[in-house]
Amino acid sequence: MGYGKFYAKRAVHFRASEIRELLAISQKPGVISFAGGLPNPKAFPIEEIREIINKILTEDGAKALQYGPTSGLMEFRREIAKFVSRFSIKADINNVLATVGSQQALDIVGRLFLDENDVVIVGLPTYLGAINAFVAYGPKLVGVPLDENGINVDLLEKKIKELKSKGEKIKIIYTVPTFQNPAGVELSEDRRKRMIEIAEKYDLLVVEDEPYSMLRFEGKMLKPIKHYDEEGRVIYMATFSKILSPGIRLAYVIASEEIARKMIIAKQSMDLCTPTFTQIIAYHYIKNGYIEKHIPKIIEMYRRKRDIMLESMEKYFPEECKWTKPRGGMFLWAELPKKINTKEMFDEAIKEKVAYVHGRAFHVDGSGENTMRLNFTNPADDAIEEGIKRLAEVIKKRL
Ligand SMILES: Cc1ncc(COP(=O)(O)O)c(C=O)c1O
Repeated sequence: MGYGKFYAKRAVHFRASEIRELLAISQKPGVISFAGGLPNPKAFPIEEIREIINKILTEDGAKALQYGPTSGLMEFRREIAKFVSRFSIKADINNVLATVGSQQALDIVGRLFLDENDVVIVGLPTYLGAINAFVAYGPKLVGVPLDENGINVDLLEKKIKELKSKGEKIKIIYTVPTFQNPAGVELSEDRRKRMIEIAEKYDLLVVEDEPYSMLRFEGKMLKPIKHYDEEGRVIYMATFSKILSPGIRLAYVIASEEIARKMIIAKQSMDLCTPTFTQIIAYHYIKNGYIEKHIPKIIEMYRRKRDIMLESMEKYFPEECKWTKPRGGMFLWAELPKKINTKEMFDEAIKEKVAYVHGRAFHVDGSGENTMRLNFTNPADDAIEEGIKRLAEVIKKRL
């Protein structure tokens, strides 16, 4: 049966993740995969979660198993409003919204703000999940290059002027300022300030997506863009996926009261409410200090894995290659000589039993053919060196 005539017009915009198939291939037995974006399973605080769940079911079982408000449970939102003060964000309960992962928050942003042909500005490269969430609503995604200090803000302003002069309707700048997925770079302090100035000058919203800011291996914490936001233009989002567990599917948004209220309404018809059970788990995780004890353990493990990857790349990769040296997060970004197309090279890598994600997937303008994202958090320590060695061989053959 042909289903074409049944689909809504908007369904033409829906896009399967370009890397889904590739991720499936990279899970084949024997393949060392730097492709996925998964936390290391050893980073999950299983015993702590068991303790918390026992407590919840004993003391508050009925509440944890009941529906809750769309905005999130009061005690969770109150705790989050307190929690974000450690990042120098001022918030009260009315600014906080609980979501099913940041991915849902990105989709709500698209649902609430994006009409067809509106412009969203993103990094080159940028997070693929955000691209896919936004394109479902038919906007134009325009890229601005990054360097080791994040999005180049001079080029950002130039691009905005150019788009405005053509009559384009720009609405949002989307950014992952800290240890960006995919490039692992960090937006510098002066660029964070410039970005909010630019948003004010050109009357734009900023979506600040911060899954990795607590996974800092070195350097001082930088204040989020939200900290500098006096007009309520920044929609800040952070997730428990990388600091507790992605399986619990819990994140939160901090936005102006008006935007938070609208996002709650937009969310209501999607899921009625974010799971109460996981909100209460996260509430205890923060409130009772589990988080302070657990995050240093994740950081220690990931820092070690990053170091192994960097040392191995230094040892095996050809001189002509360059890569970022992330101060935190889960990814690093490699740039190979221009003549190498990393998408084409992928099959050879799989034959040699190593996987990565080709960089073009993260570029809204189709560039980035000679780049790749490497995840260092998921593979076992001893697999990292071996995987990098294999990958280096594949690259050398191509050269
Ligand atoms: C930049 C960025 N935003 C959002 C997400 C989605 O996170 P969540 O698991 O909270 O949906 C990820 C996950 O990898 C990410 O890297």
